[in-house]
Amino acid sequence: MHSDKIRKKFLSFFKERDHKIVESSSLIPEDGSVLFTTAGMQQFKPFYVKGDSPYGKRACSSQKSFRTSDIEEVGDQDHLTFFEMLGNFSFGDYFKKESIKWAREFLIDELNFDEEKLVYTYFEGNDEIPEDETAKNILLDSGIKEDRIYSLGRDENFWGPTGTEGPCGPTVEIHYVLKEEGCGPGCDPSCDCDKFIEIWNLVFNQFYMDSSGNLEPLKHQGIDTGMGLERLAMIVQKKPHVFETDLFVPLKEKINELIEGEASQRSKRIIADHVKGSVFLISEGVRPSNTDRGYILRRLLRRAMRHSKLLELPGNSLEKIAEEVFNIYDGIYLKKDDRPQVFSVIKEERGKFEKALDKGLKEFEKMVEENFLDGKKAFHLYSTYGFPLEMIKELCEERDIEFTEEGFEKAKKEHKEASRKGVEEKFGGLSEDPENEELKLHTATHLLHESLRKVLGSHVKQEGSDINPERLRFDFSHPKPMTEEEIRKVEELVNEKIEENLEKKVEEMPYDEAIEKGALTFFEKKKYPDPVKVYSFLNSEGNPFSKELCGGPHVENTGHLGRFEIKKEKSSSKGVRRIKAVLK
Ligand code: ALA
Repeated sequence: MHSDKIRKKFLSFFKERDHKIVESSSLIPEDGSVLFTTAGMQQFKPFYVKGDSPYGKRACSSQKSFRTSDIEEVGDQDHLTFFEMLGNFSFGDYFKKESIKWAREFLIDELNFDEEKLVYTYFEGNDEIPEDETAKNILLDSGIKEDRIYSLGRDENFWGPTGTEGPCGPTVEIHYVLKEEGCGPGCDPSCDCDKFIEIWNLVFNQFYMDSSGNLEPLKHQGIDTGMGLERLAMIVQKKPHVFETDLFVPLKEKINELIEGEASQRSKRIIADHVKGSVFLISEGVRPSNTDRGYILRRLLRRAMRHSKLLELPGNSLEKIAEEVFNIYDGIYLKKDDRPQVFSVIKEERGKFEKALDKGLKEFEKMVEENFLDGKKAFHLYSTYGFPLEMIKELCEERDIEFTEEGFEKAKKEHKEASRKGVEEKFGGLSEDPENEELKLHTATHLLHESLRKVLGSHVKQEGSDINPERLRFDFSHPKPMTEEEIRKVEELVNEKIEENLEKKVEEMPYDEAIEKGALTFFEKKKYPDPVKVYSFLNSEGNPFSKELCGGPHVENTGHLGRFEIKKEKSSSKGVRRIKAVLK
């Protein structure tokens, strides 16, 4: 049975039981406390408190989902970043009994699962919440033999909330027995010996957890279920693992067609998963960067690039594999019209990392002569060649080289501390949080400086700067008041550059070289250390919009600054104007 048919069967099964079929929401959730949509219930989260929804009291969906928690495990048999979650939901309507009954009916009657291969787990209770006897009795009353019912603890059988607060509750999980032999007498569905595979999680939303972790009973009880389509397809299609299902085979075949090097299964799976994940993220508007979602995308693409290098795939292979992702999901979640844009983002990131990857790998070879990679050297690979941490770990693991993450974190911290000191010297004390407002305003100051030069002329030179958490103040040489029109143009230009998501680049070089390369300065030469640091903000072609000598630190890219607004423009002293501006 093709995965498309399984998906449709699921939705029509619940439609027949009065559920409204709701489209998958975006992978980028409205709930700002999480980076990605990780579960089907996310778009429905507010409705559990209300006990109703704009779709009525019952809904079902197949939801695009993306989880980063297992990113390092990808490459084994069943870990994925992008997957689809099939789910049925009740907001103040049916509860445990119907949910368990329908789950069994769907698996056994619709998909012809062998009943003997299904086992069930329910919540055993703890100090705070009693054992879920209701669920246990429903399972027993359904005719399931006691030896196929297990009670497990909070980690296994209590779910939610997503983000910092929300609905949550005990669960019943349905597992499939993959092989009769387990690892020993205590083997149960929580074991990872591959005897069992979890297929369906039925969450009984009875509680609301607030941001301090307190549980309150929900006024309206609700149901939230989630079943991974990839795993379901694996069982229905009788495949040994998810990468052999129709949701992955075209990707694997394309890789096999392109391959010239050694055919490592692990590399193939990593490429298949990461290219798929990247295509979905890019088509939802995510772009590679050094923060948040953008950095997750960058990690996926860079790791896929390294593995395609191991398999000796030709240069544009990732785009060719991405084309297959479009073939699998065309008209389901993806539109073929988006292909050129997605391919060009992949190509651009390849362009940025290809050389650094080669150089960094050579450097790595030199570094690890002693079977040990120290934290400082690892940090050098990270900061100079753009190697994501998990790539460094993976390189060490593959070669049996000792590496400790603590050493890396220490080097990273030291680097941050040094940058912070630089700023303190220049700006008289910025606070420690790298994401703070002052940091953003500091970057905005650089954009403002360059924008003023573009709009008013290159006579504009920084004469002074001051930042507090509320605003920036910038003094600059200019002989007369700015006109309304000029102010508006400067504002627009800064905002345009914020939206362009310019990326930070830091270089160290001798003062004279920095001046030669067109970096703007503030103090005279003798006030700068030698070598100096040059901060640039680069557009997607790698060209700098702004380039200044500066102690840093700055935000990684301008995309998160918010909206820039000039509040005041007035005289500061003869021939010097003063701007006060904010980020909203
Ligand atoms: N929301 C539940 C899960 O993600 C169903 O497992």
